[in-house]
Amino acid sequence: MTGTVSPWRIRGLEDGDIDQVVRIWEESRETDADPAAGLAEVLTAVRAGAPAVVAEVGDQVVGAAVSATAAERGWVLRLTIARPWRHHGMGSALLAALEARLAEAGVRRIGALLPRGEVGEQAFANSGYTGRPDLGYFEKVLAADSAEATILDQLGGSVPETGLWEHIAGMDAEKSLIERRLVLPLENRRTAERYRLEPPRAVVLFGPPGTGKTTFARAVASRLRWAFVEVVPHRLAADPQGVAGGLRELFSRVDHLDEVVLFFDEAEEIASERRDPTTLAHRVTNELLKLIPPFRRRDRRLLICATNAVRSLDQAFLRPGRFDYLIPVGPPDAEARRAIWTRYLGPDRAAGIDLDALVLASDRFTPADIEYAARTAAQTAFERHLAEGDGHAADPRRLTEDHLSAIAHTRPSLTEEDIRTFDQDLRNAARV
Ligand SMILES: Nc1ncnc2c1ncn2[C@@H]1O[C@H](COP(=O)(O)OP(=O)(O)OP(=O)(O)O)[C@@H](O)[C@H]1O
Ligand SMILES: [Mg+2]
Repeated sequence: MTGTVSPWRIRGLEDGDIDQVVRIWEESRETDADPAAGLAEVLTAVRAGAPAVVAEVGDQVVGAAVSATAAERGWVLRLTIARPWRHHGMGSALLAALEARLAEAGVRRIGALLPRGEVGEQAFANSGYTGRPDLGYFEKVLAADSAEATILDQLGGSVPETGLWEHIAGMDAEKSLIERRLVLPLENRRTAERYRLEPPRAVVLFGPPGTGKTTFARAVASRLRWAFVEVVPHRLAADPQGVAGGLRELFSRVDHLDEVVLFFDEAEEIASERRDPTTLAHRVTNELLKLIPPFRRRDRRLLICATNAVRSLDQAFLRPGRFDYLIPVGPPDAEARRAIWTRYLGPDRAAGIDLDALVLASDRFTPADIEYAARTAAQTAFERHLAEGDGHAADPRRLTEDHLSAIAHTRPSLTEEDIRTFDQDLRNAARV
C-alpha cells in the first residue's frame, strides 16, 4: 500500500469495540479448529489492558489484533479481518501497530499460534514472522479455564453429565424437533452456515407443568457439552439493583462464558405483558428486550425460556427476531406414557407388568406424575418384600396391582382445561 492512502485507520481497541470484534471473529473463521486461546481468555487479556488494536473503515470496525504479554514475551492471541478486507494488507498493518505497542511494553519476542489454514497465516509470513514447523504444541487444561470456572460457579451453573438426552423416554415428536432445530445446527455450525441456516440463539419451550421443559433444556446442554446456567426469576429480585439490574449483571457475566445454555424457567414471571408502563414487569421486560439482541450476536450460546403460560408473555418479547422458535412440549400421549413407564419400571420389570393397563389408567399424567406413581409403587413392593420375604413380592401381577393402586392415588397434574388451553396455545403460539 506504499504510495496510496489506506482506506482504514488503525487505533487502540476500546471497550465499546468488543461486541463488533467478537462478531468479526465468529464470522470470519476459516477452519473448525479452535484457536489456542479461547474467547474468554482473549477477553480477559483485553480487559487486563494487554496491547490490542482495531482497523476501522468509516465508523465500522473491520479487523482486530489482540495480544497477551509475559515479561519479554508477547503472544498474538487473535488476528482477525472481516472477509471483504482480506488480501488488502490489513493484516500486516494491524500486526505492525500491535508490534509497536508490544515493543513499548518491553516485549522482545512475539509468538502466535494459529490453526492451520486460519486467517492471518499470510499476514504473519509477510510481516517477517518465521514458521516453526519444528515445534509442536502440547496442551493440558487444568480444571476448565479458571476465570470461566469461577464465573460459572458464581452463576450456579455446570456442564451437565452426558446421557441426559438418552434418558428422555418417549416424547418422540418433541425430541426430534428439538434435536433438528437446536442440537444439530449448533453441533454442526459450519455445515449450517454453508446452507445459510442461522443456528438458533434463543427459543421458548412452552407447555403444562411437569411435561419436561427443564429436562429438555438440560439435555440440550448435555448433548452439546456446553455449560448450563439456570435463572430463577425470584432470585434475581434479591439483587441490590433490583430485577432489571440483576438481569444486566447476569447477562454481563454470562458474556464471559464460551459455550453456554442460559435457561430461564417461569419466563412469564419476567416477561409478562406490560399493560401498565409504570409497573415493575414493564421495566423488567424492557430490560430483557434490550439484553437479547447483543446476546444473539454471539455464537455458541443459546437462550432457552420455559413457560407454562405462553399466553401471558409480552407480544414484543415473542416477536420473530428475538426468539427463533416457540416449541411446544405437550402432555405425553399413550405411546410416550408407555415409554416413560418402561423407563421408570426398568426393562426387566416392564416385561412382566400389564403395561397397557398402566398406560390407560395414567391418562392426563405428565412424566413427573408417572415418575411419582412409579416411586410410590416401588415403595409398596419394597415394604412388602421386607414384611413377607421374597416369596411373591416380585410377582408381576402384584406389581401391576401396586402400580394401578399408586396411579389411583396420584392426582394427575393436568386437568381437561389445561389440555384444552395447551391445544389452543399450540395453534396460536407455536412457531417451529
Ligand atoms: N420424557 C421423560 N422421560 C422420563 N422422565 C421425564 C421425562 N420428562 C420429564 N421427566 C421427569 O419428570 C420430572 C418433571 O420434568 P421437568 O421438571 O422437566 O418438567 P417441566 O416441564 O420443566 O415442569 P415445570 O413446568 O413444572 O417446570 C422430572 O423429574 C423429569 O426427570
Ligand atoms: Mg421446569
